[in-house]
Amino acid sequence: MLLTWKPPMEISVIWVVGFCVLLVAHGAQASSHESSRNLQETDQPYRTGYHFQPPKNWMNDPNGPMYYKGVYHLFYQYNPYGAVWGNIIWAHSVSYDLVNWVHIDHAIYPTQPSDINGCWSGSTTILPGEKPAILYTGIDTKNHQVQNMAVPKNLSDPLLREWIKSPYNPLMTPIDGIDPDLYRDPTTAWQGPDKIWRVIVGSQIDGHGRAILYRSKDFVSWTRIDSPLHSSGKTEMWECPDFFPVSTRSSNGVDTSSQDKYTKHVLKASFNHHDYYILGSYKPANDNFSVETNFMDSGMDLRYDYGKFYASKTFFDRAMNRRILWGWINESDSESDDIKKGWSGLQSIPRTILLSETGKQLVQWPIKEIEKLRFKNLSFHDKKLKSGSVLEVPGITASQADVEVSFELPNLEDAEILDPSWTDPQLLCSQKKASVRGKLGPFGLLAFATKNLTEQTAIYFRIFRSNHNYIVLMCSDQSRSSVREELDKTTYGAFIDMDPRHENITLRSLIDHSIVESFGGEGRACITARVYPKLGNSRASIPVCIQQWHLKCQNLKA
Ligand SMILES: *[C@@H]1O[C@H](CO)[C@@H](O)[C@H](O)[C@H]1NC(C)=O
Ligand SMILES: *[C@@H]1O[C@H](CO)[C@@H](O)[C@H](O)[C@H]1NC(C)=O
Ligand SMILES: *[C@@H]1O[C@H](CO)[C@@H](O)[C@H](O)[C@H]1NC(C)=O
Ligand SMILES: *[C@@H]1O[C@H](CO)[C@@H](O)[C@H](O)[C@H]1NC(C)=O
Ligand SMILES: *[C@@H]1O[C@H](CO)[C@@H](O)[C@H](O)[C@H]1NC(C)=O
Ligand SMILES: *[C@@H]1O[C@H](CO)[C@@H](O)[C@H](O)[C@H]1NC(C)=O
Repeated sequence: MLLTWKPPMEISVIWVVGFCVLLVAHGAQASSHESSRNLQETDQPYRTGYHFQPPKNWMNDPNGPMYYKGVYHLFYQYNPYGAVWGNIIWAHSVSYDLVNWVHIDHAIYPTQPSDINGCWSGSTTILPGEKPAILYTGIDTKNHQVQNMAVPKNLSDPLLREWIKSPYNPLMTPIDGIDPDLYRDPTTAWQGPDKIWRVIVGSQIDGHGRAILYRSKDFVSWTRIDSPLHSSGKTEMWECPDFFPVSTRSSNGVDTSSQDKYTKHVLKASFNHHDYYILGSYKPANDNFSVETNFMDSGMDLRYDYGKFYASKTFFDRAMNRRILWGWINESDSESDDIKKGWSGLQSIPRTILLSETGKQLVQWPIKEIEKLRFKNLSFHDKKLKSGSVLEVPGITASQADVEVSFELPNLEDAEILDPSWTDPQLLCSQKKASVRGKLGPFGLLAFATKNLTEQTAIYFRIFRSNHNYIVLMCSDQSRSSVREELDKTTYGAFIDMDPRHENITLRSLIDHSIVESFGGEGRACITARVYPKLGNSRASIPVCIQQWHLKCQNLKA
């Protein structure tokens, strides 16, 4: 039953504290898994140490995450037969801490006419009496997308190893103008004060993304509501929608059915290879979701992550009163590389997700459990970085690191003027790569860097001036991440909604063999990159702090 334990991780930590770079690094932790880890690293340099991965094969969307009777569950889209997409089922893993995972038997796989051609994404809802129910998309005998239900066979088993499909499947079908190819990914359902359940399903109607709304009294018989929860004329198909409340006054997460005057609602949809979200106020009485901004309406489109991150899903963790976000991070190498590696796809580090202080966007932060993997802290204090200088962070193994840096900027007036045509942060980052010297920036971190910097992944900032405001640009430049040429090395970028006159610029990066997951401005902008460094052993590479300006690196939050 238990296939493998994820080996305990080895991680190095760099802190930047005080008027200084305080580096906190940890040596390798000896463990019973040490020898197998070393073996694994020799022929699998790109397999991660502390990100969620199945032992082999293809993985994409996270499905139905939940907390049940002391156990965290993660299901995911999985191909049991290879490292490319196909034969999709729900694989199942369980954890007590969201860090160490056990892979158990597959939960949902084709058995019925309503899912015989595939068991695609969906969500879990915990029904009254602590009864989980999964809604998922099945691909039926006609290759139509339909929505099905499954429930645990034995509610006393906290691992929920076996699932039974509803005899009423499919519960929802593509009728009345719904395209049977564009109708999938039911959300976690929520209950209004009227005790009626609501759920949305992603679709595209008349060329536009739409969240089709259903209601049900018993969770089995669902009625489609004429008006969608929301739709948008500026996007196509919405995959993996998510709809949930966030608190406007507390730093706790909110259960999916909760709703009061201190909540706002988030609608997330996956399209154009990214996860976009909008905020609004939701009234269950008439299921009116009145939005503050709309998808693709402004230059500043809100995304969970401005790098690689797709088909994500949140759940409410009632044990810790927080909402946690999981997202699928795909590969940047080729399909034949994936076949050679024997696997494809990662899950992001689970992130807590909250409304920002301004109420205008969400902020994300790695769950705090990940910090218990830190050992051997390494720290730097009071480092002034000169223009063009690179500060090496010695003494840590760089293939697995958790880096926190904070930059204090002395002379903001020197910032370059932002040309009003520079509205696309990703384009700006790719024009002003890490190697292009500016007036205030680039400054940041080089991950997976060889001594001579031939290979480096640069996560950095630039500051611009626009009238009386300052604009903070965050970039992740993969163009020199590997001497391998065939890789996707797209540069990513985001503007961070912050005023550098009033706060220092912080960066946290989780580095793990072939992924760099970065959180800028205390989690207001996130960028995830996949990289495949080749020169030498990635364990020997050194992350360094780069700055082309005088600055002080200073304290981070505890
Ligand atoms: C249900 O699960 C519990 C806990 O694992 C186990 O003790 C019990 O035997 C199971 N019942 C059945 C019918 O399998
Ligand atoms: C939803 O609520 C908003 C704001 O209260 C209102 O302007 C809008 O007309 C409502 N929409 C529907 C369909 O009732
Ligand atoms: C996966 O990665 C490829 C190559 O890097 C990219 O072109 C594609 O858009 C990605 N797919 C998604 C769903 O993000
Ligand atoms: C590393 O530093 C963090 C933060 O200061 C601290 O909580 C942790 O206990 C330290 N770990 C070790 C092994 O010193
Ligand atoms: C940089 O160092 C790597 C080894 O880490 C070596 O393979 C490469 O040739 C060097 N490049 C240059 C330009 O010196
Ligand atoms: C930056 O950090 C330093 C050291 O903690 C602090 O003294 C300073 O006030 C901070 N600057 C801003 C703008 O918050």
